[in-house]
Amino acid sequence: MCGIIGYTGKKNAEEVLLKGLSRLEYRGYDSAGVAVLKAGELHVRKKQGKLSVLAEDLKRAPLAGNTGIGHTRWATHGVPNDINAHPHVDHKRHIAVVHNGIIENYQQLKEKLQKAGYAFSSDTDSEVIAHLISEQYKGDLRAAVRTALKQVKGSFAIAVVHRGEPGRVIGARKDSPLIVGLGEEENFIASDIPAVLEYTRKVIYLENGEIVDLSGDTCVICGPKGKKIRKRPVEIKWDISQAEKKGYRHFMLKEIFEQPEVLRNIFKERIKGGRVEFEELAIRDTQIRKIKRIAIVACGTAYHAGLTGKYMIEKYAKVPVWVDNSSEFRYREPLVGRDTLVIVISQSGETADTLAALREAKDRGARVLAICNVLGSSIARESDGVIYTHAGPEIAVASTKAYTAQLAILYLFTYYLASVRKVAMTDGRSFLRRLKRLPSLAERMLAQYHSRKNILARYAAEFHEYYLARNNKSCFLYLGRNINYPNALEGALKLKEISYISAEGYPAGEMKHGPIALIDENPWVVCIAVQADTYEKMLSNIQEIKARGGIVIAVVSAGDKTLRDSKMNYLIEVPRAPEAFSPVLVAIPLQLLAYHVAAEFGYDIDQPRNLAKSVTVE
Ligand code: F6R
Repeated sequence: MCGIIGYTGKKNAEEVLLKGLSRLEYRGYDSAGVAVLKAGELHVRKKQGKLSVLAEDLKRAPLAGNTGIGHTRWATHGVPNDINAHPHVDHKRHIAVVHNGIIENYQQLKEKLQKAGYAFSSDTDSEVIAHLISEQYKGDLRAAVRTALKQVKGSFAIAVVHRGEPGRVIGARKDSPLIVGLGEEENFIASDIPAVLEYTRKVIYLENGEIVDLSGDTCVICGPKGKKIRKRPVEIKWDISQAEKKGYRHFMLKEIFEQPEVLRNIFKERIKGGRVEFEELAIRDTQIRKIKRIAIVACGTAYHAGLTGKYMIEKYAKVPVWVDNSSEFRYREPLVGRDTLVIVISQSGETADTLAALREAKDRGARVLAICNVLGSSIARESDGVIYTHAGPEIAVASTKAYTAQLAILYLFTYYLASVRKVAMTDGRSFLRRLKRLPSLAERMLAQYHSRKNILARYAAEFHEYYLARNNKSCFLYLGRNINYPNALEGALKLKEISYISAEGYPAGEMKHGPIALIDENPWVVCIAVQADTYEKMLSNIQEIKARGGIVIAVVSAGDKTLRDSKMNYLIEVPRAPEAFSPVLVAIPLQLLAYHVAAEFGYDIDQPRNLAKSVTVE
């Protein structure tokens, strides 16, 4: 939710800021802006719309200068327009601020400032920060930022410049991410690493309450009480090319096709000599043996991975598991304590509700294990232990490779848990061997979807035609059972996120308790009917839908004769695999189906409306 960047050095600031913002655009893209310092002057340019609108404007009239800040916005307070876009300036236009987060007491602060004569121009909560800093400014920007922020309640990551202090950028954070990038005679701050990776691999993660004071050749960090502290930079190993499209039309498509490789790496890295190893786990075996129950807490796609984890852990490791949405968990009184392991799952590691749930769990004495993709993110740092998915940067807003990577880690963790707790697994011996086949199975399946004219693209085109012919009346229903029920939720989520078509996921057994009323010739019903203990039950569901004129897309295991012969409207075949591992293989064509539907409708697949990659506000 909003990406911020700051630069000071010898390069043209505008160029660095724009490039950095293009790598942060996944965080928000309804407006963008920059502020650049030059010869005692502060120049601000901001535009409603995608970053390209701002870039065009800057091309026509460039801003020269070697220090500046930039922002790409996902609106919370105030509609997306030029005025509400960041940076915001104080009434004298001496100070410019970019902000990611929410200022909860902004109304009170605004009223106080207005009474003191400060005139506001935007509807945002963020503008108060510029005026507060101005109110406190007595010739030292860092001191003014520090005092101003004492009055602020809520979450923030900010970058600030002052026209009277050329070459200086101040950053501060509380509950929103901020990193520092250390270069040669240049320094950066940003919401996320890709923004600076082209220039440096040396990164410092700022903690809550810390303030950073940057010039081209100095970096001073102060703790919450204002004392200078030393922090060691970490070396980022991954490559900026991982954040490029590499010839694919969209990041989402590239990330879907990366899944076999991601899975292969996970298994290679974690399975050693027939055992599962998690180096960074930091939770001792004795503690794992004492666990009485597990709570899995996450949002969105990560929550769906968690639901699959429940099936796995209960079936194989015999520990009771419940799964919660982070936003629910944090506001009820969850019964977790010292004997509970709370597993938080998050691609970004910055999701505000999951972070708050993690803190709640720790306050209640539980051990917290994070399954996380982004190295050094807040969730990874605050948890007792962490297992990284190492899926590489996921840029498309709709999560794909992070999901199957989370599933892979949950399979491995299940095995690990059962081994440590000495639970005999029914198919224990073959578990890892079969699991390791998944990457090649996924690869073979994906090979048939390489061409633009693949079968899923055809289904999508037919749906599009059908939809238009029915005056936009059609919708989707996804049904699954048991371990593939979470995939029904995930398939529906993918579709609605990027194609804006109404889609619902349901456990197929619940169909008669309501959703069957929706069935006529309008909805398209995706039925996950791969080989499973509940296969016959799915067949009955499908017959019930067909009997009512519904259109069925059946997802079946390769070689399924029953459904092939029984006149399904559409078939999607996935490779045969043990039921427990089928969710990975089922997820992939559902992601592709959603992708092709959105492509048919001509939508912006990587940056769907109203969404942002990293939900750092409640
Ligand atoms: C769906 C999607 C979101 C995220 C959710 C949690 O495609 O991307 O539902 O899964 O916002 O995000 P993380 O995993 O970063 O905590």
